[in-house]
Amino acid sequence: MTALADGARAAQMLADRLAKNRRHLGKWAKREGVTCWRWYDRDIPDVPVTVDEYEGALVVADCRRAGADEVLDPAWFDAVVAAIAAAAPEAPIHARARRRMTDRRETGAQYQRQGDAGAWREVGEGGRRFHVNLSDYLDTGLFLDHRPSRGEVGAAAAGKRVLNLFCYTGAFTVYAATGGAAATVSVDLSNTYLDWAADNLARNRVDLRHHALERADVNAWLGAYRGPKFDLVVCDPPTFSNSKKMHGTFDVLRDHVELLTAVARLTAPGGTIVFSTNHRSFKLEPRALAEWAPVEATRRSVPPDFGYSRPHRSWRFTAPAGPSPRAPG
Ligand SMILES: C[S@@+](CC[C@H](N)C(=O)[O-])C[C@H]1O[C@@H](n2cnc3c(N)ncnc32)[C@H](O)[C@@H]1O
Repeated sequence: MTALADGARAAQMLADRLAKNRRHLGKWAKREGVTCWRWYDRDIPDVPVTVDEYEGALVVADCRRAGADEVLDPAWFDAVVAAIAAAAPEAPIHARARRRMTDRRETGAQYQRQGDAGAWREVGEGGRRFHVNLSDYLDTGLFLDHRPSRGEVGAAAAGKRVLNLFCYTGAFTVYAATGGAAATVSVDLSNTYLDWAADNLARNRVDLRHHALERADVNAWLGAYRGPKFDLVVCDPPTFSNSKKMHGTFDVLRDHVELLTAVARLTAPGGTIVFSTNHRSFKLEPRALAEWAPVEATRRSVPPDFGYSRPHRSWRFTAPAGPSPRAPG
């Protein structure tokens, strides 16, 4: 691992790179009508932060990693945030300092509230509206790296039955419903995020009579579902989940074959599964729906503003025209 640049040097390097990125990527964002995008993506390894714009407001996240006995110097992050404030004096900044959390598995805290500043705002993307929160949660409610996949789902949804698993704030569902889906079902374990999803759907004037939001453990829900099959399924699970509201734990590396097999049973012949994961060293098991000819879509699903990190990997699985496969023996 590279040594971190000291605060003053980090601030200067970041300021220079921000100016360059805003010139180049800023043109792309303007051309594409993108108003929520990543200005800086850990571009310089020894200045490990991210800077995201949500329509004029900035979210800066400290991505330094602390060892077990290491204390991260808060002055370093302060210097970096000050450099960003100087580079974009017009933008309110929401800084997310790093908490001592070296292993999310131990804390299970990846989706816990961070503070209580209440910085909500409505933003646009792809002609849709989303309520984001820039201060109180670890994530804002809109994962910017999934922008291309959301567009793809919106463009493919017309007339289809769409299932959104681990739906979070329902961003994929908003695209599907406003893209003309005949019906959608969105499943998540968290009432907080389902309420947020309902709010996002309402902001886009989606009639909830054809768009169900269900609170359940995805695994249990998939086992119990007896309704009509789905033509398009979005499955973007967390890397790891151990909520008290579910039985056992979920580990994407360990459990993705069973998850995809269960999803396949609910997918209509000729239907598509959009699968993605943020796991840093994910390997798709060759036996994962092998007969569905998975195609990796990461190159087109990661947008240009995420140039330096690989925020996710994604695949598209297409159901054979015949009946769905049985679970492996
Ligand atoms: C990575 S986010 C999904 C992001 C979403 N696909 C998007 O792009 O907007 C993970 C979500 O999974 C939910 N979750 C975690 N474990 C779950 C489980 N076992 N069953 C259902 N939802 C779960 C969390 O509440 C969270 O909303």
